[in-house]
Amino acid sequence: MLVGLRKPKNSAVFISGHGSTLQALLEMQYQFAVKVIVTNRKNILGSLKAKRFGVPILYLNSSISYKVLSEVLKTKRIDQLFLAGFMKILPPEFVESWQGRIFNIHPSLLPHYPGLGAAEKSYEDQKEMGVTIHNVTAELDLGKKFLQVRSMVADLSSAVSFPEAVTFLRRSEQHLLREFTFRRGL
Ligand code: GRF
Repeated sequence: MLVGLRKPKNSAVFISGHGSTLQALLEMQYQFAVKVIVTNRKNILGSLKAKRFGVPILYLNSSISYKVLSEVLKTKRIDQLFLAGFMKILPPEFVESWQGRIFNIHPSLLPHYPGLGAAEKSYEDQKEMGVTIHNVTAELDLGKKFLQVRSMVADLSSAVSFPEAVTFLRRSEQHLLREFTFRRGL
């Protein structure tokens, strides 16, 4: 019997900014079938990336409730959601209805540096840097850690500029996403 690649899981990606993580997910179309991008902000760089890959964008405004959003995602047969720089807190009932299928990609080795500015703070403090993907629960950045990849050991910040450190972070993020699909696909 011919055993091929497993069919990638239908994914929705939530963004609010440049779409750096979104770009990584879009470029891995054999691991992630990104079917829709959800954002709370218009005219962001991430939207341009979505258009370049031909992925529809759903703008969250006051007329779209999270209940309606959930229905739309279900009609698109979405299997998993990724928060990639999404700057809004999801309502607990929405998180509950997608429990275990929402993942946040956070630019630090949680539980260190939860919340905003994680990469900047860990760099300034000369601590080790890296990326975490974790299950999303009602508490911010406190869901069960699924996987972590270190991008830079501690005390290197003096030898590496912050932009370089971010490049290492992005590479680790791509490695983490590949490993994530392998483990999720099993
Ligand atoms: C990145 O720091 C990534 O690690 C996290 O959110 C940020 C993406 O932001 N998932 P942006 O979309 O590039 O502005």
